[in-house]
Amino acid sequence: MKLLDKHAIFEKNSIILVIGILITVAIGGLIEIVPLFYLENTIEKVSGMRPYTPLELAGRNIYVREGCYNCHSQMIRATRDEVERYGHYSLAAESMYDHPFQWGSKRNGPDLARVGNKYSDEWHREHLIKPSSVVPETIMPGYPFLAETELKYSLIDQDLKVNQMIGVPYTDDQIKFAVADLEAQLDEDSDDYDAFMERYPSAQVRDFDGNRSEVTELDALIAYLQMLGTLVDFTIYNELENNR
Ligand code: HEC
Repeated sequence: MKLLDKHAIFEKNSIILVIGILITVAIGGLIEIVPLFYLENTIEKVSGMRPYTPLELAGRNIYVREGCYNCHSQMIRATRDEVERYGHYSLAAESMYDHPFQWGSKRNGPDLARVGNKYSDEWHREHLIKPSSVVPETIMPGYPFLAETELKYSLIDQDLKVNQMIGVPYTDDQIKFAVADLEAQLDEDSDDYDAFMERYPSAQVRDFDGNRSEVTELDALIAYLQMLGTLVDFTIYNELENNR
């Protein structure tokens, strides 16, 4: 009874009540926020993640420019139907080099977080140029101009540099050789092949748009799509989960 009597102070005086609320909320807030300042990392480390190659980054820019995120998410939720349809649910680490992230909240089309290596380059080419040629009932618009638009990449090193400034661990070499690396990813026979592969392990190297004479926006976009979800080896995770 005594304690309840004291509570009457709060109930009879709105200013004291507001101050009381502020103090209580502030304590809750501090408990949530303070650990973030001394925790080294809030994202679980996973092996395989690496910064995007210059070509993938250029493709990602086109993906953002064209607003693909208006219809496609890149985050597989941890529910059974999603995992059965798209594969292992997305890990935070998988989008840690995305600025801005592409999780998305709208799906007029399927999630693309693991679309890499699901289809051939030819399929992507036809699909992006005229989606209904491979999926007749689709509502996705075509992007035929990508195949005809030369990719502008002379300043791609600046793009890597900005990403480095906001925390993506690009090395100075990766920035210095960005233009050469972009070209190397399109040509299996280039002299820069080994250096490129050392800088970007597991990168896929080939001509993506089927037109060797030109570096097009379609090259970059398909290189990006074919990489999505392929960096982390999920066989280990699936085994861990099956043994539980
Ligand atoms: C108006 C909504 C819309 C927009 C915008 C859109 N898509 Fe789609 N997309 C769809 C739909 C619907 C499908 C499913 C049918 C199909 O395969 O075409 C799809 C399918 C896809 C697929 C195949 C996915 C799979 O697993 O089968 C890829 C890859 C894709 N889109 C890439 C893109 C890219 C890249 C862009 C931007 C350049 C884009 N989409 C823009 C609606 C859209």
